[in-house]
Amino acid sequence: MVRNYADEPVDAAVIDRALRNATRAPSAGFSQGWGFLLLDTPDDVRRYWVATADSIDDPDQWLRGMMRAPVVVVPCSSKSAYLERYAEPDKGWVDEDEARWPVPFWHMDAAMASLLILQTAVDAGLGGCFFGIPPEKEAAVREAFSIPDRFDPVGAITLGHAAGQPGAPGSPRRRRRKGTSEVVHRGRWSEGGHT
Ligand SMILES: Cc1cc2nc3c(=O)[nH]c(=O)nc-3n(C[C@H](O)[C@H](O)[C@H](O)COP(=O)(O)O)c2cc1C
Repeated sequence: MVRNYADEPVDAAVIDRALRNATRAPSAGFSQGWGFLLLDTPDDVRRYWVATADSIDDPDQWLRGMMRAPVVVVPCSSKSAYLERYAEPDKGWVDEDEARWPVPFWHMDAAMASLLILQTAVDAGLGGCFFGIPPEKEAAVREAFSIPDRFDPVGAITLGHAAGQPGAPGSPRRRRRKGTSEVVHRGRWSEGGHT
């Protein structure tokens, strides 16, 4: 994840491709219950930070680097779209009971689409960062960009050219990457993973 961006525009065709690829993510029941708020003008991007930051006039290192990103995408998921889709005859969950869902597939699908956005950007030589919207700021984001009630933002993605210097450090500076032997459990689950 890149958290420090150069003050440089991006090729709009790359952003278009990233969003097109997002629509090729897998989705449960092909529900496609996602929506992507695209902020790609300086004014719209600024409105995002005004809505979510405590103060954009005195930004910390993270915010200073992130605010320079020329594009912000807010991927959203729609639980109701999934409940409605699965109430259709080929699925038949007409009670729309949420307990039927092993995990919230609406968030999963928006997350998979988000990864395709990130991968497309990185593939084109750009940087990206998926990050959370503070819960107490969600209402302000909805209000600023007229996000309807039936959609929930799952986070936000900055996209742009990485600046020369690293910006705010991410957790990998403080934590080591786990090896596959620690997380893959072959045949049966073993505490330390497979050997
Ligand atoms: C669901 C999710 C939420 C995240 N939230 C934040 C965030 O709020 N701020 C941030 O700077 N990075 C955020 N990240 C980025 C992670 O910190 C980053 O992916 C992780 O530390 C691994 O680093 P890498 O992606 O550069 O390998 C988030 C990533 C995910 C998948």
